[in-house]
Formats: sequence, structure tokens, C-alpha cells
Amino acid sequence: MPAVLTMQPQKQYLFKHKGFYFQSELATAEYIDSLEDFEIRDSDVFLVTFPKSGTVWTQNILCLIYHEGHRKGTESTSSMDRVPWLEYNIHIRDYNSRPSPRLFATHLPYYLVPKGLRSRRAKIIYVSRNPKDVLVSYYHFSRIAAKLETAGDFGDFMENFLAGEVLASSWIDHVEGWFSHKDDFNILFLTYEEMKKDLRSSVLKICNFLGKRLTEEELQDVVDKATFNKMRMDPRANYENVPSDILEKGKGHFLRKGTVGDWKNTMTVAQSERFDSVLKERMQKLPIKYCWDINEDLPS
Ligand code: A3P
Repeated sequence: MPAVLTMQPQKQYLFKHKGFYFQSELATAEYIDSLEDFEIRDSDVFLVTFPKSGTVWTQNILCLIYHEGHRKGTESTSSMDRVPWLEYNIHIRDYNSRPSPRLFATHLPYYLVPKGLRSRRAKIIYVSRNPKDVLVSYYHFSRIAAKLETAGDFGDFMENFLAGEVLASSWIDHVEGWFSHKDDFNILFLTYEEMKKDLRSSVLKICNFLGKRLTEEELQDVVDKATFNKMRMDPRANYENVPSDILEKGKGHFLRKGTVGDWKNTMTVAQSERFDSVLKERMQKLPIKYCWDINEDLPS
């Protein structure tokens, strides 16, 4: 049996509130509690993810859908400002006075989001990704994120991930929670893998859900600017402008590989089996099946 939880998260970087790990320097328990009464508008759009599931990608897609044609002198505004983090108000903006439609990103679990969302007002896009790719992406991200534990050994990191001892806690709790409470929300579920395999259809799904009609030319432009290679070169979209006390740029890029199945390059067979043994039962009960390799078809 592999040793379980050999490395504790560095508590100076994380704090646990209501069963969920947050980043210490970027939020407080009081602020998180205040979000329960955060006033929701019908036109609000929330992008919800577990970390490393395609957040920045979808943030960029939302920016492109809503803003690209009419940036009006704000061409250099980054997607982090266009679609700011709800629980991490990094640039201390007044979210209540933002003009509609407001776009937000969040890693919150279903039970901590503003209660106004439960009246099915506003729209939620939930993007999830196969958890082995999430794990490997998370491991690499932990090495460049200045405010996260420095991931040493991959095996240790995997045990922390499986135990939910990482920022945003347990992957399976997050995904299971959102899927099992879907009827409380006006929500569109997407996977990273379907976005990767058919970006155009995914952008169209998002547009249809949001009631946005793009011309063929606009649609093609969104798809083109949301590809991995284009985003890698666009500092507004790829988090390269994030301050170095949050991301240590010399250590790697936020947009790293951007594919499906990269976990096979990091996880050993034993690690993969151990991972399956912990998550398999609960994953089988999820109403969603993931694609584990770029050459595999999407599950129907
Ligand atoms: P990898 O580390 O596997 O490359 P998040 O934004 O939720 O933190 O997710 C980050 C992951 O999404 C990273 O995965 C990153 O490369 C990937 N990603 C970001 N933009 C992408 C794009 N346009 N196409 C494919 N993957 C993208």
C-alpha cells in the first residue's frame, strides 16, 4: 500500500473554510461568507471549475464572445479583469457596480456560491476535465504558483490530491456536488476534452446557452483566438501578466501542454492503478464519462 498523505499542504498558503481550501492571502473567511448574499443579476454569467480544468481557456472564450468586437479602447484588458475571480478579488474591484453583463470565474463548490444563483437566475458554465490530466496539470502548476505548496515528489502530490488536501479540496467532491445539484441552477456542463476535440461546437454550445448570436465570421474568430497556440501568444489571455508574486514565470508557463492524455507521460502504471482504486467507484456513479486520450473518441 502506498503511504497516504505524506505531505501536508503548507497551511500558510491555504485556509480551510466550511470544508473547502482557499488561498490565504487572496481571501478571508468573512469575505467568503459575504458571498452568500452577493446580489445576482439575471444577466450574470459564472464560469465554475475545479482548478486546472480549463478555466483560463473558457475565461478567454467568454471574453471573446462578449468583448472582442467592441473593446473600445480597452484592447489590452486581460481576461482576468474581464472575467474576474469571485472569491479572489485580486484587483479589489467593486463587483456590485460592474456594468452588465457581469462575467465571473470561480472554483467555489456548489454549496458556497451566492444563494441568488439557486433561483436559476443567471447562467453557470461548469467545465470539468478528466482527473488524471487535472492532477498532472495541477502538479506542474504548483511548481510555478508562488503561493502554493512547492510540489516535490509527484507521488506525494497525488496522495494530497486524492485526499482533497490541495487548493479547492477534493476533485470528486467538486464535480459530484455540482452534477448532483444541477437542477438547482441554470447550468451548462462542458468538458475540457470536448473543447479540445471540437472547439467550434463547444463555442457554439456556449453561445446558444448564453443566447449570443455570432456571425460565422465572428464565430470563426473566437475559435481561432481560443486555440492553444494563439492563446499562448496572447498575454491578455494566457496569465503571463499575473504578478510574479503569484506566478513565478521563469519556472514554466500557465499554458503548458494543453492536451488530453498527458497524464500518461507522468503517472506510472502503479500510480494510475492507485488513482483508479480511490476514485473509480464514485466516478462510475457520475452522470458524465471522460475521455482519457487525445486519440480516443468522446464518450457518448
Ligand atoms: P496543462 O497544464 O495540461 O497544459 P486552468 O485554467 O483551469 O488552470 O487550466 C489550465 C490548463 O488548461 C492547462 O493544462 C492549460 O495548458 C490548459 N489550457 C489553457 N488554455 C488552453 C487552450 N486554449 N487549449 C487547450 N488547453 C488549454
